[in-house]
Parts: sequence; structure tokens; C-alpha cells
Amino acid sequence: MTKVAIIFGTRKGMTRKSAEIIADILKTKFKLDIALFNAKKAKLKDILEEYENLIIGSGIAMGFWVRTVKKIVQKKDFTNKKVALFVCSGLAGDALKANDKEEHQKVISKYIDRVIAKNPSLQPLAKTAFGGRWVRKNGEQIVDNWKKEDVENWAEAIGKLFQ
Ligand SMILES: Cc1cc2nc3c(=O)[nH]c(=O)nc-3n(C[C@H](O)[C@H](O)[C@H](O)COP(=O)(O)O)c2cc1C
Repeated sequence: MTKVAIIFGTRKGMTRKSAEIIADILKTKFKLDIALFNAKKAKLKDILEEYENLIIGSGIAMGFWVRTVKKIVQKKDFTNKKVALFVCSGLAGDALKANDKEEHQKVISKYIDRVIAKNPSLQPLAKTAFGGRWVRKNGEQIVDNWKKEDVENWAEAIGKLFQ
């Protein structure tokens, strides 16, 4: 069974939720051996040594990745590893909602390509940006455009890349 590690960094929970959905689809439909890690708690050095296959995700806030996850993608050596990347972002969700593919690509470029540009060892097999959610404690919704279907569709598309 092919082993794949999914590492996520989240502030508001949607990157975790996305990672869980991806894990579920890759396990059940593609029979992959999936391990899910919260970047905040995981021993990232050990994971990167152990796994050749990685899916790495981060939420975006004020334009920034979760710091621990950003550090991995910018600094680690991914030579000979298969990697897929995703972010959860309000801007991406707006573009997906409007079915604006060009704008969605721009968001991917801004939040993923620019971040990994300094690490030539990281050549992702796949990358995407899902929507996000940000609800204030008083219930006010600032961002609410995360869609389960977007995550499911991507998981279905990348599953075979790891088999
Ligand atoms: C403080 C804050 C700042 C944010 N800034 C951005 C931003 O710069 N660009 C963007 O696309 N989305 C932004 N968002 C929306 C988040 O991307 C969205 O809440 C997403 O769900 C975050 O991922 P997480 O739920 O895994 O933390 C922001 C959200 C918060 C809470």
C-alpha cells in the first residue's frame, strides 16, 4: 500500500476539514495508506524523512501561510518526493463561487507559486486553492465560501497521481 502523509496548518479549522476529506477519499477510493498530521503538533522532520508522498495544506490569513507549514515548503528538500499543495483562502472561494477560472489561477499563483518560488526542489504534482470560512465569535460571517465539493473533486483528481 502506498503511504501518503497529509500535513495541514490551520487557524480557523477549514484546512483541517479539507485535509480530513482528502484523507477519506484517498483511503476509500484509492486505497492509499494515509496519515494525517497537524503541523502544530507533528514531528515534521521525522515525517519528511519517512514519507515520499506528501500533501501539504495551509490556511491563508493576511496573505500568510501558517508559519510552520510555510517553513517546510520553503526550506525542506523535496527531491524525489511526490507533493501536492493546497491552501484555504477567502479570495479563492470568491473566485470559485463566481466560476472565474482566471482569478482562481491568480490566487493559486499568489498564495502558492510565490511562496514556493525559492525552493526549486519542490515541484508539486498538483496545487489548488479552496475557499474558506471566518466566523467571528459574535456570529458575524466575514468569509464563508468553503465548498466541500471543491475539495472532493480535487481529491478525486489527485488520487491517481499517488497510486
Ligand atoms: C485574520 C484573517 C485574515 C485573512 N486574510 C485573508 C487573506 O489575506 N486572503 C484570503 O484569501 N483570505 C483571508 N482570510 C480568509 C481565510 O483564508 C479563511 O478563513 C480560511 O478558512 C483560513 O484557513 P483555516 O480555516 O484553515 O485557518 C483571512 C481570515 C482571517 C481569519
